[in-house]
Amino acid sequence: MKKIFIPFYLLIAALLLTGLLGCEGPAGPPGDTTIANLEGFKEGIKCGDCHNPDTDTVNYVWAKKYQWEKSKHFYGGTFADRNTAPCAGCHTTEGFIQRARANFPAQVAPTVWSVVTKQTNPTPVGCFACHSPHSNGDFRRRTEASVVLWSPMEGISDQTIDFGKGNICLNCHQPRSSYTPRMKTSMGATDTLKITSSRWYPHYGVQGLMFLGSGKGGGFEFPGKTYENSSHSSQTGITQNGCPTCHMVDPTAGLNGGHSNLIGYLTASGTEAFNTNGCLQAGCHTGTMDVEKYIGASSSLTGGMGAYEYVHAYLDTLGTLLADKGILNSSGLVNGNNGTSNASSSNPRTFVGPDGLLKAGALYNYFFIEHDLSGGIHNSKYAIQLLNNSIEEMRKP
Ligand code: HEC
Ligand code: HEC
Ligand code: HEC
Ligand code: HEC
Ligand code: HEC
Repeated sequence: MKKIFIPFYLLIAALLLTGLLGCEGPAGPPGDTTIANLEGFKEGIKCGDCHNPDTDTVNYVWAKKYQWEKSKHFYGGTFADRNTAPCAGCHTTEGFIQRARANFPAQVAPTVWSVVTKQTNPTPVGCFACHSPHSNGDFRRRTEASVVLWSPMEGISDQTIDFGKGNICLNCHQPRSSYTPRMKTSMGATDTLKITSSRWYPHYGVQGLMFLGSGKGGGFEFPGKTYENSSHSSQTGITQNGCPTCHMVDPTAGLNGGHSNLIGYLTASGTEAFNTNGCLQAGCHTGTMDVEKYIGASSSLTGGMGAYEYVHAYLDTLGTLLADKGILNSSGLVNGNNGTSNASSSNPRTFVGPDGLLKAGALYNYFFIEHDLSGGIHNSKYAIQLLNNSIEEMRKP
């Protein structure tokens, strides 16, 4: 349905032109004031607010487009080959909009969103996934509602997280209820975990659970050990603005920050660098910030090494220990019981009793910390404690 209406000031102009109001003087050309209300567009929307690069000093749409083209959302490419139901619900803009229109139904295991279908001509995660500028007339987030994170840990309930503006991110960067079974927390002599997939992990969006930290079902917590969270996990700026607090800060060179979502990036000359505008905002860190070497509150857990460097180095160690025991293979996937090829229903990997299940916990933590992708920065104390305890476990015979 399309409707066209004549706004009040146009009416006045028409009256002026016909001399009915008795005043002299020219009126502007009527074409540029007519407002067309197209279906799906907010009533009275002014196209030129966003579609006029000459004068757009409010939204800087063009700049945001170029930043976005630096993000993996744009160039990652998975919108094409992950376009099936339910993958399209997070890997394409159109699938995400289907979820949004159904008010973001919760996941049930294994991941089922009956509202998400395979898309014809899918597009990557773009402006219209996170915003709905034509129907809203502005760039508010498509949703800012809190998000329920599926719990990959048996005995721990699904967790609600409220990260304000960052909730938009958590609608996709959340664990997936696929690749069951959940990690076991009961450790009886006959308790058994049977894995039939080489990709036994709750997918790649574990960052929300990493921030929630201890006791929330993110990592496997070894019985008898203590776990703490870093200040990132409860810092007010982060709990109000979430992921954008660090990932969408002012760009320093158009190659990072903003809609590129990049903190670590390559400079124009190809060297690695970090945008630390997020770290150095008021109330957070002071001075200069060397992300790789920074030694903070987790110093006693790393023997004085920087958290980021430590997590990268010791995640490798944990991977090697898991490979030495035949659990991980050279592709970084889980081996079946034969110890040489991918776990599957005909070659499952079973972990039995406390000895077995604690090793499964170390495997689980390996993927958890790896897929968080921040080198421990999201919640360094928690990540490092999990890592240390997992290594200790794998060093046992
Ligand atoms: C609040 C900002 C905003 C307003 C107002 C707005 N648009 Fe857009 N529009 C966007 C953004 C963002 C995009 C995607 C980026 C781009 O292509 O520039 C877009 C894209 C488009 C596209 C390209 C779609 C495509 O598939 O490539 C068309 C056509 C368009 N808008 C028409 C309009 C019309 C007509 C109006 C006024 C009735 C309007 N827009 C008002 C923000 C806006
Ligand atoms: C509609 C779903 C969706 C939303 C919403 C979303 N992401 Fe993503 N994000 C993805 C997918 C899918 C990928 C991987 C894309 C690919 O590889 O093709 C990704 C990749 C990324 C990456 C690159 C990771 C890497 O491996 O280098 C970062 C960083 C990121 N997202 C941050 C964010 C932030 C910050 C937000 C919120 C402002 C956000 N994302 C919102 C789906 C989403
Ligand atoms: C709950 C949302 C969600 C669903 C559903 C989902 N993904 Fe993803 N997927 C993501 C996010 C977010 C990332 C990016 C993680 C990152 O790099 O930080 C990702 C990353 C990936 C990657 C790794 C890409 C890379 O560059 O390393 C693969 C492969 C993948 N997904 C495959 C799939 C497949 C296949 C399905 C459907 C069976 C699927 N995904 C369903 C959210 C989802
Ligand atoms: C992955 C999600 C995501 C995508 C994709 C995305 N945005 Fe945004 N956008 C956000 C978030 C989150 C904010 C708020 C950031 C902040 O305040 O730190 C934002 C803020 C903005 C703003 C500032 C206005 C405001 O209300 O804060 C504009 C303008 C904007 N986006 C335009 C765009 C355009 C144009 C595109 C496509 C090229 C785009 N966005 C794609 C998530 C996204
Ligand atoms: C306290 C700041 C901070 C917050 C808040 C934050 N991150 Fe990060 N994140 C980082 C840093 C630092 C890195 C490491 C960047 C690197 O190694 O290049 C990172 C890395 C990542 C990566 C890998 C990106 C890459 O380019 O390799 C993803 C994906 C990611 N974060 C997602 C998220 C999501 C989703 C949220 C919100 C739930 C979030 N982050 C909140 C600081 C933060």
